[in-house]
Amino acid sequence: LFINASETSAKKIPETLFGIFFEEINHAGAGGLWAELVSNRGFEAGGPNTPSNIDPWSIIGDESSLIVSTERTSYFPRNKIALRMEVLCDNEGTIICPAGGVGIYNPGFWGMNIEQGKTYKLVFYVRSEGSIDLSVSLTGSNGLQTLASANFKDSNVSNWTKMEVLLHAQGTDAKSRLQLTTTRKGVIWFDQVSLMPTDTYKGHGFRNDLFEMMQDLRPGFIRFPGGCFVEGEWLRNAFRWKATVGPWEERPGHFGDVWHYWTDDGLGHFEFLQLAEDLGAAPVWVFNNGVSHNDQVDTSSVLPFVQEILDGIEFARGEPQSKWGSLRASMGHPEPFDLKYVAVGNEDCGKKNYIGNYLKFYNAIRNAYPDIKIISNCDGSSKPLDHPADMYDYHIYTGANNMFSSARKFDQVSRNGPKAFVSEYAVTGNDASNGSLLAALAEAGFVIGLEKNCDAVDMASYAPLFVNTNDRTWSPDAIVFDSAQMYGTPSYWMQHFFRESNEDSKKYLRIKVVNFGSNNVTLKIFIDGVELNSVPSLGLTKTELTSSNLMDENSFQAPKKVIPVRSSMEDAKGKTDIVLSPYSFTAFDLLM
Ligand code: AHR
Repeated sequence: LFINASETSAKKIPETLFGIFFEEINHAGAGGLWAELVSNRGFEAGGPNTPSNIDPWSIIGDESSLIVSTERTSYFPRNKIALRMEVLCDNEGTIICPAGGVGIYNPGFWGMNIEQGKTYKLVFYVRSEGSIDLSVSLTGSNGLQTLASANFKDSNVSNWTKMEVLLHAQGTDAKSRLQLTTTRKGVIWFDQVSLMPTDTYKGHGFRNDLFEMMQDLRPGFIRFPGGCFVEGEWLRNAFRWKATVGPWEERPGHFGDVWHYWTDDGLGHFEFLQLAEDLGAAPVWVFNNGVSHNDQVDTSSVLPFVQEILDGIEFARGEPQSKWGSLRASMGHPEPFDLKYVAVGNEDCGKKNYIGNYLKFYNAIRNAYPDIKIISNCDGSSKPLDHPADMYDYHIYTGANNMFSSARKFDQVSRNGPKAFVSEYAVTGNDASNGSLLAALAEAGFVIGLEKNCDAVDMASYAPLFVNTNDRTWSPDAIVFDSAQMYGTPSYWMQHFFRESNEDSKKYLRIKVVNFGSNNVTLKIFIDGVELNSVPSLGLTKTELTSSNLMDENSFQAPKKVIPVRSSMEDAKGKTDIVLSPYSFTAFDLLM
C-alpha cells in the first residue's frame, strides 16, 4: 500500500463532513432522547375529537368506583382535550374506595426509569368542583412498591390550577409508573401531566446518556427532524414547526403517520436548534415543501407553506424584536441560532409538484437569506441538476457488497456543480440484521470513499440514529436503547473512527483500511517514498474494529462485543510488515 502524504495531494476536509441525522422514528425522541417520562401527557393522542385516545394511561379502579371520560374543556386552546374523572367512592359512604384509592396511571414509554437518589419534577393541571385530596406517586411496575410520593389537598381549584412538586426517588425501577389517585368522592379534571428528571443535559431536556452518545461522535452537523417524518403519509400529519414551539403545555402534539405513533412534540423546533447548539453541530433543518407520501399542494397554492418556512427561519435567526425571533427569545434563547442549512423536502424528487414547489422555496429563501445553503432532493451525482441548489441529497440503503463497492461512487462526479449531502446511508437487510460487524465494515469502506471525495461530498450521516427496542420499526440503527440502558451498534463505532476528520488540531496522519476479505492482509506503508517502519521516530497507534464472527452484534447483555480496540504498535517498529486481520476496519495513527 502506497500512501501519498505529500501536501500537494491533500484535500481539505469540510468542517461539516461527518454529522448525524436525527429522525423521530423508532421513538427516537418521544420516549428516547427527549427525557419526558409521561406518554400522551395531554390525553390528546386521539386527536381533537372526543372520545380521545388516552392510551397508555390506564384506570385504577372499576366502573363501580369511578367513571373516566374525555372532554373538550381544557384551559389550553390548542389542545382542548382534558380528562374527566368522576369518583363514586370514598372512605365513608356506601361505596368504599379500594385500598390505595382510585385514579389513573401512566407507564411512560414501556416503563419509566426511576432511579434512587434522583429527583423528578412533576407538573400537572387540575380542576374540581369541590376540594381535592390527591396522592401522586412513582411506583414500581406492578403499582405496589412506592418509590416517591406527594399529596395535594386544595379547596380552591374551581379554575384550572397548575400543580408542581419535586419527587425524590427512594428506590430504583426501570419500569416504573406515575399514579394519580384519590379516595375523595367528586369530579376532577386533569390535563397536561409532565414528569421530567431534573438531571437532563444542561437542563435542556435531553436524556444524558443518549446525548453523550451523540456528542461522542463530535458531529459537524445534525439533520432534523426527518426523514419521512417530515413528509407524513398525509400532509395533515406532517411535522409543522409552529405547532411545536412555545410553552410545552400549549403544544397540540401530533400523530406521525409514517412511523405510527403520537408525539406530544416536547422535542420541537426550538429544542432541535438547542440540541444542535449543545452538540456544537451545524443545524440542518429539513422541512415539508407541500409534498407528503400521498398528497401534494399545487405549486400555485404553495405560498402559505413557503411563508411558514420563512417564519421558521426567522424563529431561528431573527432579532429578538422580530415577530418570530421574539418567541424564541421568550423561550430562553435571545441570541439567534446559527441556522445555515435547509433541505427542501425528503426523498420527494420526481413527485409531480416537487420542482415547482422547490423553486418557490428556493427563490424566497435565497432572497431573504442569501447565506443559507439550500439542499435539493434531486440526485446530482449522475447528471447535473436542472435547478439551482447548493447541495443535493443522496440516500443509499443496500446490501454489504454493494455498499462496499459504492466507495467509488463519487470518484467521477463533477467537481463544479452542487456537492453531495449523503444524508442517509446504511447497510440493510440480512447483511445487517439488527446491526452487524459486516454492515459496519461495508459502511466503513463506503465512508472512506466519501472522505477521499470530500471535494465532491460536503456532508454525510448514517441513518437512522436511534431505536427504542420497544418500537423497532426500522432496523438497523446506530444507537439502541430502552428506558434505562443503551449501546452502540458496530455501525455506531464505525462512525467513531471518523470523528476526528471534521476538525482536529493535533498533527498526525491517520490511515484507515478495511479488510473486507476472510484472509490476513499484509501491508507495507510508504509515505512519500519512505517505508513506515524504517522511520523510527514515528509513534504508531492502531485502532481495530473486528470480531470472531462477521454477523456479530452488540446487545444490552454484551454492549461492547464489537467495539474499536486501541493499541500501541511499538513492537511493530523496525518490522517490515503490518498485518490486517480478516474482516476488520483498522486505523493507524502516526504522530508526526
Ligand atoms: O431512515 C429511515 C427512512 O429512510 C427515512 O425516514 C427516509 O428518508 C428513508 O426512506
